[in-house]
Amino acid sequence: MKIVRTVADLRETVNDWRKAGLRIALVPTMGALHQGHLSLVEAARARADRVVASIFVNPKQFGVNEDLSRYPRQEARDAELLDGAGCHLLFAPTVEEMYPAGFATSISVTGVSEGLCGAARPGHFDGVALVVTKLLNMARPDIAIFGEKDYQQLAVIRRFVEDLNIGVEIIGAPIVREADGLAMSSRNVYLSEAERAIASALPKTLTRVRDQIAGGADVASALADGVRDLLAAGFASVDYLELRDARTLEPLQTLDREARLFVAARVGTTRLIDNLPVRPL
Ligand code: PAF
Repeated sequence: MKIVRTVADLRETVNDWRKAGLRIALVPTMGALHQGHLSLVEAARARADRVVASIFVNPKQFGVNEDLSRYPRQEARDAELLDGAGCHLLFAPTVEEMYPAGFATSISVTGVSEGLCGAARPGHFDGVALVVTKLLNMARPDIAIFGEKDYQQLAVIRRFVEDLNIGVEIIGAPIVREADGLAMSSRNVYLSEAERAIASALPKTLTRVRDQIAGGADVASALADGVRDLLAAGFASVDYLELRDARTLEPLQTLDREARLFVAARVGTTRLIDNLPVRPL
């Protein structure tokens, strides 16, 4: 697998592939790769001739009090994992390459970016929209693949790709989970042993609330019970537990269409998110 760090080198390789008529997939990441990321590479390989992965810890999507400086960085290990997964090209730019002196542009997506993580992390989705737009413009892939664990992010990306007429197909890939159901995340490394044990209550509670709502229970009571259960299990706080329209992310009080159940909760100082589909009977 080739590693490039500049936009010029990235473009040179992908332009050659395009001229040869090859179909190109992009898998954007922030590194600290786990099985969830490798499943995105696998999905990309099944749909394209060449797979480009990017590793860039994007400062523009971190808030002032967030974990930008301590976000895990392990490029050599990530490169080995990507190579083993059959990735063809790794784009690992510096912050200066992505945001040179004088950089002055922002992108803001309304609607789907409001509420849920958008409420707890102001500016986060603007930062995601900006970096993903840049990566799509740089690599000009046929398809780009993102995990459904960051389901709101996926909805934001689908929105601006359509709004800005970026000619790329966006594909969502299913959440990959640990044996006890915890969604894989680069931030799981922050958890102490005791916090990791508490964290396993997140997917269990989410599944229970999902089954209750899908079985016809009152949505507001099922959500309130779920919050109470998470706090009883040891979570320090629950940012949200909400039922929303699976496509528009509009909040739902009744299960009258394809929906998604979303949760964000804090264990110690670590914020964990998860979501599940909920289908009406
Ligand atoms: O999901 C992520 O890892 C990041 O938000 C992304 C899409 C790579 C943009 O920095």
